[in-house]
Amino acid sequence: MHLAMRAELQAGLLATPAFTSPKYLYDALGSRLFEAISLLPEYYPTRTEAAIFDANLAQIAQAAGIGATLIDLGAGNCAKAARLFPALLPRQYVPIDISADFLAQALGLIRPRFPAIEMTGIGLDFSNSLDLPASVRPEKRLFFYPGSSIGNFTPEQAAAFLARLRAACGADGALLIGVDLVKDKAILDAAYDDALGVTAAFNLNLLRHLNRLLGTDFEVRDWQHRAFYNPQQSRIEMHLEARQPRTVRWPGGQRRFAEGERIHTENSYKYTPQAFAEQLGAAGFGAIQCWTDAHGWFAVMHARAI
Ligand code: AVJ
Repeated sequence: MHLAMRAELQAGLLATPAFTSPKYLYDALGSRLFEAISLLPEYYPTRTEAAIFDANLAQIAQAAGIGATLIDLGAGNCAKAARLFPALLPRQYVPIDISADFLAQALGLIRPRFPAIEMTGIGLDFSNSLDLPASVRPEKRLFFYPGSSIGNFTPEQAAAFLARLRAACGADGALLIGVDLVKDKAILDAAYDDALGVTAAFNLNLLRHLNRLLGTDFEVRDWQHRAFYNPQQSRIEMHLEARQPRTVRWPGGQRRFAEGERIHTENSYKYTPQAFAEQLGAAGFGAIQCWTDAHGWFAVMHARAI
């Protein structure tokens, strides 16, 4: 593992309260557990976003235009983008994901289904860098950032990230983004603490990933999933909470956790459509179009670089 990654992970584990970046949730098993989450009845975002795309596909394609360089940020299994191919007819498809092996497998499956589309998979942590290889066409870039992953950033980080996206758009680029919206706390709490415990497994699997990455000796059974909506901050918080006092050791460090002490593993910010449109405007995007579902639970927005 890279020294910088080690340093980042250790600093987070030694902080009070302890924290880890949500990107560490996505090893091969974590990516599959997230796929399972997206099928849960309580987890409305994936389903609701898909319904918004289905119901408004013609208008969305009209806004986005055909023949784009479709750059899929956090592509995962590439299924969301593949559903848009028939309407958007991209010239090039560029899926990017931190889980490089999972992405390579997924790309192997969809490549033969769309032989007319040039496909360039990139294993990259795009939260750190948007430096795209020269093989990515500079014309008509359409950044596709579905699923409300933008919610993992704080609003300040999101503003900086959107500004970098705007810069990577060039003169004729655009952004197609999914954003989860503020709603009733009970619905949000259930979506991140489901009855089957799949989200709990997704969160706890982070500990196994850390054991492999950093050589920590976390025992999964010592920890408990905690997730809840924090209305003051407009965000879901996900934590792992120690069931008993525990000392966690790794090569080069250790940390004692008291009973009930937590590791903060993810934030998932929720926006109003107005607040998110303002974020887009501040980052240099305009001509914003917004589609939402009947409950107003989720929004899909298209915005042009201006
Ligand atoms: C993939 C970041 C959009 O925040 O809803 C799902 C991740 N975490 N359940 C989200 C997640 C817990 C998800 N994103």
